[in-house]
Amino acid sequence: MIKIVMYEQVHTMASHIRYSPLPTDSSDTSHIKKGKFAFPKISRLKVIGVLFIVLLSVGMVAISCLHKGHCLNNAVCNTVIQNNLSDFGQLKSEHVKFHHMKKRLPQCIIIGARKAGTRALLTYLNIHPDIVVKGPEMHFFDDDDFYHQSLESYRKQMPFSYRDQITVEKTPAYFTEEEVPERIYRMNKTIKLLLLFRDPAERTLSDYVQIAEGKKSKNKPVASFEEHVLDSKGNINRSYKAVKRSIYHKHLSHWLEFFSLDQIFIIESQDLVDNPAGVMYEVEEFLQVEHKIKPSNFYFNKTKGFYCIKTDDVQKCLADSKGRQHPDVDTTVQRKLRRFFAPHNRKLYKMIGTNFHWLEE
Ligand code: A3P
Repeated sequence: MIKIVMYEQVHTMASHIRYSPLPTDSSDTSHIKKGKFAFPKISRLKVIGVLFIVLLSVGMVAISCLHKGHCLNNAVCNTVIQNNLSDFGQLKSEHVKFHHMKKRLPQCIIIGARKAGTRALLTYLNIHPDIVVKGPEMHFFDDDDFYHQSLESYRKQMPFSYRDQITVEKTPAYFTEEEVPERIYRMNKTIKLLLLFRDPAERTLSDYVQIAEGKKSKNKPVASFEEHVLDSKGNINRSYKAVKRSIYHKHLSHWLEFFSLDQIFIIESQDLVDNPAGVMYEVEEFLQVEHKIKPSNFYFNKTKGFYCIKTDDVQKCLADSKGRQHPDVDTTVQRKLRRFFAPHNRKLYKMIGTNFHWLEE
């Protein structure tokens, strides 16, 4: 608004100067002082006026940038201070510091589960003007070396935010690492946690695909999913990490030693895939922020097979590493996996008071 009004004022004055009639007699140079530039006196005044208005408008834009209420509705400010969505896969924050902005410890963390849609959730949160996100995974609480560096070194990694903005980071490895809940509790016992659960059989396969891709890229041999997931007797291999990570109730019960269930907002992954706007509405409620993420921020991309986002600045899908093709799995192995997870899932449903109806056969 400010920008437009100022532009119009400057434009009107500038065009006035440009088209102001020249002295009728071109030989009359009495209005030009020797050694000075050849503008008539009246035009110089106008130039000074224009300069004054330009300076004033720059000052007003700067002031509005320092004032969050204006800034969030101001395109100029938004492009400067908001985390940039230019790369949907890799969020990066602009390292521009304004008065009143500080790097703050997160008041909300997406703790997992791995391969359950954590990147999509973080990316959707980033649409919200009252939320700032840390794009790369931090691994502060699950990395002993980093953790022992100090909380201050963690804080310094966070994006700049205003006092009433919520800083969010996501590290899905937190969910399954033994020492993490207590460490987060020590930082902030009232923190809000976001947790996604995906059908464990699907999550296990997705985890395998991710690990296999990593190995392939390093030219390492890759055993099949079936080989990994079954032990030598043909039973489900309980020590396979991708399986262990999917026994949700065990990990969650450890978190509940430190946090109450109402501090943890649980999302079923498929709900986020099918209805991102609906889920984000509930997340906004949980975080007690205004409803700013709209259905119009999402569009379904047939090629990708998932919803992608659309904002004033950008229209993009998640990176190719999200929404990968899964290999076909032997049906007997699939059934074994589902049967294996069924009792664990029931324990989870009881613990959280919600039945996700994941297939048991
Ligand atoms: P797959 O790659 O197995 O399909 P995470 O970000 O935690 O690693 O989760 C990755 C999963 O996010 C993907 O697993 C995919 O199913 C899910 N997902 C949810 N919304 C998505 C979206 N809009 N685009 C791509 N993947 C999405």
